[in-house]
Amino acid sequence: MNRSESDKLHSEALTHLVGGVNSPVRAFKSVHGNPIYFEKASGAYVTDVDGNVLVDFVQSWGPLIHGHSHPEIIDAVSEKMQNGTSFGAPHLGEIELAKKVKQRFPHMGKVRFVSSGTEAVMSAVRLARGFTGRDLLVKFEGCYHGHVDSLMVSSGSGLATFGIASSPGIPNDTVATTLISPLDDVEAVEFLFAEHGKEIAAVVIEPLPANNGLLVQRKAFLSRLKELCKSNGALLIFDEVISGFRFKDGSYGDICGVEPDMTALGKVIGGGLPVGAYGARDEIMNHLSPLGPVYQAGTLSGNPLAMAAGAKSLDLLTQEAYEYMDKLGELLEIELERVLSKHKYPMRLVRRESLFWLSPGFQKPATRADEIPSNAGHLYANLHRELLSRGYMLAPSAYEIGFISTAHDESHIRGLVHAIDESLEVLEW
Ligand SMILES: Cc1ncc(COP(=O)(O)O)c(C=O)c1O
Repeated sequence: MNRSESDKLHSEALTHLVGGVNSPVRAFKSVHGNPIYFEKASGAYVTDVDGNVLVDFVQSWGPLIHGHSHPEIIDAVSEKMQNGTSFGAPHLGEIELAKKVKQRFPHMGKVRFVSSGTEAVMSAVRLARGFTGRDLLVKFEGCYHGHVDSLMVSSGSGLATFGIASSPGIPNDTVATTLISPLDDVEAVEFLFAEHGKEIAAVVIEPLPANNGLLVQRKAFLSRLKELCKSNGALLIFDEVISGFRFKDGSYGDICGVEPDMTALGKVIGGGLPVGAYGARDEIMNHLSPLGPVYQAGTLSGNPLAMAAGAKSLDLLTQEAYEYMDKLGELLEIELERVLSKHKYPMRLVRRESLFWLSPGFQKPATRADEIPSNAGHLYANLHRELLSRGYMLAPSAYEIGFISTAHDESHIRGLVHAIDESLEVLEW
């Protein structure tokens, strides 16, 4: 596959953009390649600047649950655009999207829209601190919540600890407000509550951790978090930026039978435009400005084009749409299992409906970040390169998940499995 135009643009971009990109994982570093420059995208396909057409299982990292350039979403945005691109003032579209979000997340009395998942989690955390009058947070190793200072923290030595910053530029004082626990470890969280229970404002977790592989948690673990929060006066924040609106039976909280105090959303609710949101019961949300003292604002928050894209995207998420994606996921699971075991390739598919992860190793899939084998990157990089040369694009990192959309069909799934089969014929491991 010729990528000379992409390579040329990348050389030029390196002079103007940091590493040639505006978000690090796009740089393809962990799969030892150069980024691909896209020209256009439609449905399940992206076309790069060299004219290569790739079947895309990244889908802009999750927002495009209906694939690229869905005609009804494009129409909805185009129509709205005739009336103005930004008002900086209230409009009907915000109410409409808020109602749709509340239907799926009934624990939300009110919703606040922002422009990214990072902003949603960051603001939810501020509100939780403002509401409880406490500073400490509990977060889990292997969960990503955007580049929020107090959540860009990884564990120090020991099981349940105060964190260490995972990026320079984050003040020690900020990091000192975050306690880190491994996932799927009730005792570690109980220990943190026993030590600091009355200082903890919130426990923040992706109920379906999907940024360090797909680390499916036990329901019992999530419900224990809820109990601990409740008995200690802390809030449970579910970060459903990836999992929100992905599942036919409701939120991931619904699926687990655990209702959080607050939920942060992003990705799918923007239909491909920049939207994040957070919500909670009125008692909590009424602490937010202009009703309450906790301040949070945004010039482009509730942008009319973004609200229209989000609303149309949610309208298109019928029960049939969810079932269709789940069926495709099931096909992927069955077919891939056959191919991986034929080649004895040390990988397994972990899947929840339309979300999937190629989990390294033969063992039971990981539920904690530290259970992921250290050769994950190596196994994945080789496969990724081979798949790309066969026209299939998965995320350029072993730890990122794949996204099935309503724009995919059986041929894309069978094609991906066939490409994996062919790739494993030529790979050594
Ligand atoms: C679970 C989760 N939370 C928060 C974020 C941050 O969202 P954004 O990239 O829109 O700022 C992400 C992004 O991937 C995410 O996966």
